[in-house]
Amino acid sequence: MSDLYLKIVNTPVGKTAAQSLGLPSPVPLKRLKRTDQPFIEGDVLVGAASGARAIATVGSILGASAATLHHATGPDALTDSAKAGNKAKPLAIGGEIDQKFSALVFDGTGIKTPEELRAVYDFFHPTIKKIAGNGRVLVIGMDPASCRKAPQAAAQQALEGFVRAVGKEIGKKGATANLIRMVPGAEKQLDSSVRFFLSARSAYVDGQVVRIGKGTEATATNPVAPLTGKVALVTGASRGIGEAIARTLARDGATVIGLDIPPAMEDLQKVTDAIKGKALACDITDANAPKLIADFAEEHFGGVDLVIHNAGITRDKTLGNMPEHFWDMTIAVNLSAEEHIDEELMKRELLRENGRIVCISSISGIAGNFGQTNYSTAKSGVIGYVEAMAKQLKNGITINAIAPGFIETQMTAAMPITIREAGRRMNSLSQGGLPVDVAEAIAWYCSPASNGVNGNVVRVCGQSLIGK
Ligand code: NAI
Repeated sequence: MSDLYLKIVNTPVGKTAAQSLGLPSPVPLKRLKRTDQPFIEGDVLVGAASGARAIATVGSILGASAATLHHATGPDALTDSAKAGNKAKPLAIGGEIDQKFSALVFDGTGIKTPEELRAVYDFFHPTIKKIAGNGRVLVIGMDPASCRKAPQAAAQQALEGFVRAVGKEIGKKGATANLIRMVPGAEKQLDSSVRFFLSARSAYVDGQVVRIGKGTEATATNPVAPLTGKVALVTGASRGIGEAIARTLARDGATVIGLDIPPAMEDLQKVTDAIKGKALACDITDANAPKLIADFAEEHFGGVDLVIHNAGITRDKTLGNMPEHFWDMTIAVNLSAEEHIDEELMKRELLRENGRIVCISSISGIAGNFGQTNYSTAKSGVIGYVEAMAKQLKNGITINAIAPGFIETQMTAAMPITIREAGRRMNSLSQGGLPVDVAEAIAWYCSPASNGVNGNVVRVCGQSLIGK
């Protein structure tokens, strides 16, 4: 469903009217147009606090991009910024700054005490007003759980609050702010995540924190079709977010098995025909579904590399009025089926080395939602499942979750208009996301270069004001 308000407010008359009435003025988000488009262009400024661990890696990732790279000079706390390499030209940030920045990237991995957080202020205070429309703020820090001393853990945790608040300040420009946390020694795993968060692929990902571990050795990928040779199973692929996931993974080179319930076969077939994939009719809650899926993957492809648990349902009622089949169905589709399918694939060793499992949670699973005790329970369970499995998986297999916020699909189009409008505007970007926004985040998780990304829950919600 299209967002009429977003269109009207971006006409000259609409803009003036919204401003004078104090209404939100969402900026159209720039999404990926071509897969060979550079991940970032324009002027990018990098800065680093003393003791920075990631600045050289970030400098080389950005040095190879289409961006004009600068490193901050001036404040004493930022002298490590020069370690970004010789592709980055010095830029004094004390006085007048001419450039508008498409990205501000800050390495805060060296920050060891709350006092040293001053470097964050020193870098962003003079530059934040210079962030361009649809710009990116990216901060890199250490995983607080990996910090031995409490002041360091406190300072590293503090970066999360900083990034979330910055995101809320720059959202009116369509700009986003995110935090990558790494464990010591994970520098080599930063590449795919730095690229994702700086690119148009992450247009609706805002205020998020992702943890990067050491992973297995990062694999070189074809940047235009990184999933070439991979087989992906996508459940609920006939429409909405699942259709976008199927199309996006196919765009990136994967062969897709699209799965949906038998009544959705006509629509599913259209999707899989368009992407040269295979359609599988299956209700994932049937007792026999895991075997059916595993047999299909084995027979046609000898196994599967990417498993995307997207199928989901809502059956809303307040708890006291909820019939038991509403509870049972919602838990079965959104939670138990994922576990049973994975168990079967794993038992039969059909999920190949360096495989990826991605589950779809929801902000309802994080914040809870009125009339959705069943759905919130199931979607919260998804997060528990992902976190537990991330510790158990072997052979380079990772598992992560996406928690979408308000995404424009048939599910949200069916909402009453007042709830729909509130859902759209109650986030830093004042608009709903598109199915492709969820799909792009899944493609990032699935990349062979994302070996170090494991056990994360990233919200694709434009930083919803609901939730933590
Ligand atoms: P949708 O209702 O448009 O699509 C869901 C798909 O799952 C449908 O094609 C449906 O036939 C399929 N499905 C349902 N039960 C099934 C079963 N038993 N076996 C096989 N397939 C089954 O929903 P949408 O909006 O595309 O959502 C996709 C996922 O994202 C769901 O898990 C949903 O809970 C989640 N989500 C969506 C949000 C949104 O704003 N649209 C927000 C948060 C989470």
